[in-house]
Amino acid sequence: MKNIVILISGGGSNMAAIVRASQQQNWAKQYNARVSAVVSNKAEAKGLVFARDNGIATEVLDHKQFDSREAFDAELTQVIDRHAPDLVVLAGFMRILTPGFVAHYEGRLINIHPSLLPAFTGLHTHQRAIDAGCKFAGCTVHRVTAELDVGPILEQAVVPVLQGDTAELLAARVLVQEHIIYPQAVLNLIKA
Ligand code: GAR
Repeated sequence: MKNIVILISGGGSNMAAIVRASQQQNWAKQYNARVSAVVSNKAEAKGLVFARDNGIATEVLDHKQFDSREAFDAELTQVIDRHAPDLVVLAGFMRILTPGFVAHYEGRLINIHPSLLPAFTGLHTHQRAIDAGCKFAGCTVHRVTAELDVGPILEQAVVPVLQGDTAELLAARVLVQEHIIYPQAVLNLIKA
């Protein structure tokens, strides 16, 4: 069985989209793959409730309990590796990862970012796209490499930026597309 471990920090709507796709498309039977665990750095992350309700193992590792990024990432690696992941999926996991963590999961670590990379790495992507006068925005699924939000692009989707858009309106429009391309990207990798 191929194990997918998903890391979240909050709402977990991308995680939920991947779980729903795995259920609806019967990844277990079709591709011998499953979402085996959801890991959060925040105990209050809403996505944990969805994961538990769907019978998926959950783990919480609070980064505030650690003195350094290195110490947190070392323990996080242990937690993830208990689930023998073939693929580690960052889904709104709002932590900067250490080079050691990224190297450990090289070739099996992916992320979704709410912009059309390489534009707008980092935070506040929607407001920055609006402020820059962009006519289009979107989202990107990419492999994770040592540099933040850089790494080979796997999938992208584009949405228009509309007159009068706020960051919230644009984020909601982009999120609809995230929920389409992220399950697709995961499926492509587990089929490969
Ligand atoms: C998503 O929009 C995702 O692209 C973004 O956080 C949101 C998480 O939503 N990720 C980043 O900004 C990563 N730097 P979700 O928890 O509902 O999936």
